[in-house]
Amino acid sequence: MTQGAYTNDDPADGWFPESVAAGYDGPGGANAPEVVTPVVDVLEDLADGAVLEFAVGTGRIAAPLAARGVPVSGIELSRAMAARIASKPGGDSVEVTIGDMTTTRVAGRFSLVYLVFNTINNVTTQDGQVDVFRNAAAHLRPGGLFVVEVGIPDLRRLPPGQDTVPFAIAPGGDSAGYVGFDQYDVVTQQFTSNHVTVSPDGTGKFRCIPFRYVWPAELDLMARIAGMSLKYRWADWDRSELTADSAQHVSVWEKNR
Ligand SMILES: C[S@@+](CC[C@H](N)C(=O)[O-])C[C@H]1O[C@@H](n2cnc3c(N)ncnc32)[C@H](O)[C@@H]1O
Repeated sequence: MTQGAYTNDDPADGWFPESVAAGYDGPGGANAPEVVTPVVDVLEDLADGAVLEFAVGTGRIAAPLAARGVPVSGIELSRAMAARIASKPGGDSVEVTIGDMTTTRVAGRFSLVYLVFNTINNVTTQDGQVDVFRNAAAHLRPGGLFVVEVGIPDLRRLPPGQDTVPFAIAPGGDSAGYVGFDQYDVVTQQFTSNHVTVSPDGTGKFRCIPFRYVWPAELDLMARIAGMSLKYRWADWDRSELTADSAQHVSVWEKNR
């Protein structure tokens, strides 16, 4: 069982190097039109001028938003991910800056900054997550909006005394298969997503990716530290009401005027 970079992977690309970027835009899943379109609909509706995506990735959302005529900029850590944006419809107009969304500044004042697909969790410290909010506020004009899409921490699946929850077990034939599990540290709010893939020849790959989970109320405090206040909180991009059973939320904070 091996863990580590593939031959073509640049360590500077973090957890999204070439070997991950190459498979990121596969059909279905997060790339399916029924997933992408509602996100783009809401962002287009909230935008009132230029917008900035933190962790823009391969342009899954940025490119179709730009194709609707919205001026889109993006900050992205991984060159391998960002390299895929320009070839998508609308993607050639997306202005991409390679950098860390906790610190990287781009020119311009934006009507909207957005950070989707649980990517606030990729910043693994509370201070770092506060810096994301501060950096979003620094790019917004007064009254501008910061949108975050992120899962509600799934701790209710943890029985007392247990720190690990499986999320996928897919045995294949001849010992091939896949097992995925999350492991939580409820003191630091850090967790790892662990992926074990076994090939039919018996060789295997183990990937352990670090995250930090964060509660909606904690995000509201981060927003307040950064000079923003909650404007909307939905359970999903259909703007449905958040309930105790919601698995994720879409929250919108407004920069104080
Ligand atoms: C799950 S992907 C989401 C990409 C895109 N936003 C989407 O919705 O498809 C997470 C992305 O965040 C990027 N990323 C992680 N930490 C980052 C950071 N601190 N600054 C900028 N980008 C970061 C990764 O390189 C990766 O492209």
